[in-house]
Amino acid sequence: MAQQGCFITLEGVDGAGKSTHVAWIAAWLKVQEISLIETREPGGTPVGEHLRELVLHQPMDLRTETLIMFAARNEHWRTVIQPALARGQWVLCDRYTDASFAYQGGGRQLGAPAIAQLEHWVQQGLGPDCTFLFDVPLEIAQKRLQSGRAHADRFEQEDHAFFERTRQAYHERVQAEPGRFVVIDACGSIEDVRRQLTAALQVLVSRWQGRDGTLAGRP
Ligand code: TMP
Repeated sequence: MAQQGCFITLEGVDGAGKSTHVAWIAAWLKVQEISLIETREPGGTPVGEHLRELVLHQPMDLRTETLIMFAARNEHWRTVIQPALARGQWVLCDRYTDASFAYQGGGRQLGAPAIAQLEHWVQQGLGPDCTFLFDVPLEIAQKRLQSGRAHADRFEQEDHAFFERTRQAYHERVQAEPGRFVVIDACGSIEDVRRQLTAALQVLVSRWQGRDGTLAGRP
């Protein structure tokens, strides 16, 4: 049976700087001749992109918000991510279910059990192989947000306490699954972050090669 592709996700609070590095990570993997799709959540499908517009801009109840995140995720997981992995392609996804644990579970204080139930229902025990958590103190994240965006969405408008809870929930995810996460200290320069990413990606690629001696996605 052909080897499954590797599922990589990128996470962090708004302003942590993850978006600056997505294209660079994709380019780095492509240089290794890895066949890769780049995608994002909420979004990644036509349905998901409509839901993204709704959930980022329309006021709504917390449970509605959470269900929309998972409705978009279900469509994305079943129609895009799983088929790509099954073909042996790698998937690089800007945010995934850890964001629901962090933002809805932590930031909005829904708690982890409700998110875990939806995760189980949609993903049935499957999920990312590796997650890069871009981590910065909130003061830096807020400064980056203020300088970067003219129109803040519903999440970017939240207060300091919301983002403290969100960041804390991300760290709880790391503690629960230390083998899956790579925490990137995203305070430094772009070069400094790229150095950390390069080291982690080299380990990931060689581990993946080691699973059966070939690199997934290589023609
Ligand atoms: P982005 O700005 O990184 O594209 O993400 C959009 C926002 O959506 C971001 O503020 C985090 C939020 N979000 C959640 O609250 N829950 C989720 O499950 C996901 C995927 C994103």
